[in-house]
Amino acid sequence: MGPHNRLVESEHRFINELVRIVNGALRLDVDKVRNYTAFLAEKLEADGQKSSADRLRKLLEENDNQLRPAEVRFAKVLPVDSESRFPLIERVKVKGMQEPPVQLLQPQWDVVNEFVSVAKSYASLDTNELSGALSLLMYGPPGTGKSRLARYIADELGLELYVARLDGLISSYLGSTSKNIRALFDFAAKTPCVLFLDEFDAIAKVRSDGQELGELKRVVNSFLQNLDTLGRQSIVLAATNHDALLDAAVWRRFAYRLALQLPTPDQRARMWADFLDPVQFTDRELAVLGDLSEGFSGSDIREICARLRRRYFAEKKPLQLSDAFPVLQNLALGGKDESRFVSRLADKDVVAIVHALRERDPRLYSLATLADLLGLSKATAQRLSKRGGEGEGAANG
Ligand SMILES: Nc1ncnc2c1ncn2[C@@H]1O[C@H](COP(=O)(O)OP(=O)(O)OP(=O)(O)O)[C@@H](O)[C@H]1O
Ligand SMILES: [Mg+2]
Repeated sequence: MGPHNRLVESEHRFINELVRIVNGALRLDVDKVRNYTAFLAEKLEADGQKSSADRLRKLLEENDNQLRPAEVRFAKVLPVDSESRFPLIERVKVKGMQEPPVQLLQPQWDVVNEFVSVAKSYASLDTNELSGALSLLMYGPPGTGKSRLARYIADELGLELYVARLDGLISSYLGSTSKNIRALFDFAAKTPCVLFLDEFDAIAKVRSDGQELGELKRVVNSFLQNLDTLGRQSIVLAATNHDALLDAAVWRRFAYRLALQLPTPDQRARMWADFLDPVQFTDRELAVLGDLSEGFSGSDIREICARLRRRYFAEKKPLQLSDAFPVLQNLALGGKDESRFVSRLADKDVVAIVHALRERDPRLYSLATLADLLGLSKATAQRLSKRGGEGEGAANG
């Protein structure tokens, strides 16, 4: 490969940035020009062309003084809210966290795996084709693993994870909002990272509200355009609990979309096992816990397990099914006063529970299992199960 080829190659490498700068200049989009000039400077420097890089930076600084406080000019300084000075973006630790595995269904893994593998090749692709950041929108109920997946993906890609909560970004002051948006994208454009836009529906709320929000809407639209023009150095994830709020134009901005939902019984059983570690339950006990936690999110199960583990470490004695049951029941009933449950249950309540569970799944809820679960002797469990059988009328009367 001769010197001529090398030259051509290096020209190619920066053409994307040049095109964006020219594009920004033609549209009088000062920020775009700035962002990509700064980005180009970084690329040049990384390429060993330090004096060219410095020239560009000097140019930026000379024209920047009255516009921005000094600390915002350089990447790695986290952008802050222009009013409150609170960080707009937060770096989340990903490396070496050793979290329990993510539970997804196979079709969901297919999406995640494809996203990760495309993202890995994306940054190194060297074409002239203009394409922006790779993006994934995750949606689903609270506690179903959206933030967890963001950490997983950043970890897989070996990139830093930065989280921006959009409701914090959009202030009721128009001026602050545009400054915040600019600061966020300035940062993202300069930083190779996974950018995680949490509470993404905050965007949609602004777009759909009526009143004198026309101006704010314009700002939000510019947010979405910024998203489009972010370069490939950024991987963008977004999460929302309210997918119904997002309009088609917003959905279209994301190349990948992933619906998450409450875990299946099998997934719940695996979560119980993973989250309780090092406490061991048998497969049968895990199946019972998985069944009883119907309607719980991964986050709910995680919470109960954290509590049971603390107890295990404090008391240093093995945990039984009957330890998990009151906590579970309390959470399921949304109760506040735990002393009301199980240990204080009247006989007729225990009878009702025994019956309900026998009816639900007689094989899973054998008398032995019910005895374990409710902390009864097997004889008592048997007696109670019989009593309820004939005594429906008695229980009601
Ligand atoms: N599918 C899952 N697989 C493994 N762990 C999960 C899963 N879902 C939730 N968890 C556990 O619950 C914790 C909380 O979940 P996470 O913060 O990811 O929920 P979220 O979907 O981001 O909720 P929110 O909408 O409230 O932000 C996770 O850190 C993880 O420990
Ligand atoms: Mg979350």
